[in-house]
Amino acid sequence: MAAVKPLLALNWKLQKGPRETFEWSRKLLEQLPEELSADLAVIVPAVSLQSAQNALSSSLVAWGAQDVSAHSKGAFTGETAAAWLAELRCKYAVIGHSERREYHGETDAIANQKVKAVQAAHITPILCVGEKLETREAGTQVEYTLRQLEVALDGVEITDEGSLVIAYEPIWAIGTGKTATPDDAEQMGNAMRGFLTKKYGADSSAKVRLLYGGSVKPDNIKALCSRQNVDGALVGGAALEIDSVLAMLNALN
Ligand code: PGA
Repeated sequence: MAAVKPLLALNWKLQKGPRETFEWSRKLLEQLPEELSADLAVIVPAVSLQSAQNALSSSLVAWGAQDVSAHSKGAFTGETAAAWLAELRCKYAVIGHSERREYHGETDAIANQKVKAVQAAHITPILCVGEKLETREAGTQVEYTLRQLEVALDGVEITDEGSLVIAYEPIWAIGTGKTATPDDAEQMGNAMRGFLTKKYGADSSAKVRLLYGGSVKPDNIKALCSRQNVDGALVGGAALEIDSVLAMLNALN
């Protein structure tokens, strides 16, 4: 973990609708310590954003979207504009999650447009990258992931801590119970930091939080996030129960 405060982002995927989002968030606030060891954010379905805002405004917990449109307006049925996420006071928007890539054909070029769209709305993109099992087995995961960053960050600027978060999520570790080792996470964290330093300079590179995601849970979060270039976690399965979230926060303390 670098000098910046870690970020624990809870990716709820298609799991909690508006009512449950509100009730869960209120219950969480009752049990949350007054000071948090990490920045905490719930990443909720678009229809649950208003509930997250209702439950969490004036608390320490932020909220964010799981996706965003690359476009600001127009004939794009089903899409949500970054400016509207800003109206709902989203702090974060996840971009290029592997499930969006697999089921919705998202590419690094589309992720690039989305990163720019949310930055323009003063929302922090959480850009997801990471390799499939074949790539890991071929030993080319670092080249593959850095190539994803090269395309997704083309023309993207870093001005402050809110400009960008990157989540390295090896696809073989998502929802499978197979976690990358802390060494695997650090190998990629270190490579990504090097990439950012080369592209933006050391000062700007240090402003970007690098998360690890893929079967993170209370048992393994501490070991993963204690590495130099792992500044927090993007968590799916273990983010659904309050006890497990509190245990992860406790482990980051
Ligand atoms: P998981 O999901 O923690 O259930 O592996 C992580 C993610 O998809 O962001």
